[in-house]
Amino acid sequence: MSEKTPLLPVREKAYAKLNISLDVTARRGDGYHDMLMIMQTVSLCDEITIEPDEGGEVSALTGLPYVPGDRRNLAVRAALQFLELVGDEGRGMKITMRKAVPVGAGMAGGSADAAAVLRALNRAYGEPFGAEALCAAGESVGSDVAFCLRGGTALASGRGERLTPLPALPPCRFVIVKPDFSISTPELFRKLDSVKLSCHPDTEGLLAAIGNGDLDGMCRRMYNVFEDVPDRRMRSIRAAKGALLDCGALGALMTGTGSAVFGVFRDAKSAEATRETLRGEYRFCRTAESVGPLL
Ligand code: C5P
Repeated sequence: MSEKTPLLPVREKAYAKLNISLDVTARRGDGYHDMLMIMQTVSLCDEITIEPDEGGEVSALTGLPYVPGDRRNLAVRAALQFLELVGDEGRGMKITMRKAVPVGAGMAGGSADAAAVLRALNRAYGEPFGAEALCAAGESVGSDVAFCLRGGTALASGRGERLTPLPALPPCRFVIVKPDFSISTPELFRKLDSVKLSCHPDTEGLLAAIGNGDLDGMCRRMYNVFEDVPDRRMRSIRAAKGALLDCGALGALMTGTGSAVFGVFRDAKSAEATRETLRGEYRFCRTAESVGPLL
């Protein structure tokens, strides 16, 4: 067996993320924005399996008609990037994804798949790369891939790829609902550019609350500037937040550029009761918990 033959098949979980806060601090010259975000990995995940493909192509299979299986898929791009780095271009692979993380929800589903592919291939090839090198590979695939690689709780800045690890959130459970529409990230960034933001998250206060294990203090300060973008879909976002708060959530927020909204609950029992209450109203309604660092 050649040194570069990967041990396949390999399986990996692609965990979603939630934004405990999201601030946009500047518009940059390169088409991106500078961000300041507190991110949390959660247990909701896609299941990724990578198998050899004798045809020499890298492709993805999701079973979802609206998710492409070619280079437009971030998981395929991540695999091609990895193969180039490891010097094994031309190796065929079939990436099968059992999707549970909704698409167009602000939960970094596509980035999480890409990150899972990088972690899985690194294992299959005998760990040739450390965390830094894998993150550098991930950054070229998408702004959220580096966070999805490392996982846990982190402060993200720059495009989202500069990460400072944070202590774990105080113990809590999440209920995540998604209205029946998706939101395009570039579209919402364009709309954000057309307004002057007057409110920003108190990131320092949030960091202090998390550091002190103060769940109420954290929930009071959760804030996402994308909720202030003039867009009629934000009415449904506010309604979803209201529904979660009515069920007793300590705080509720849209994650990323939406359209998923989550509520924070003190324990599994109140989260489960809320899921029971809201599952008739929201086709996508799940409970989740925090997941610690992955790399
Ligand atoms: O990096 P990624 O491909 O995930 O970004 C998708 C789009 O989101 C970018 O093309 C850009 O329009 C927007 N974006 C941004 N600033 C960021 C991250 C993403 O403007 N920090």
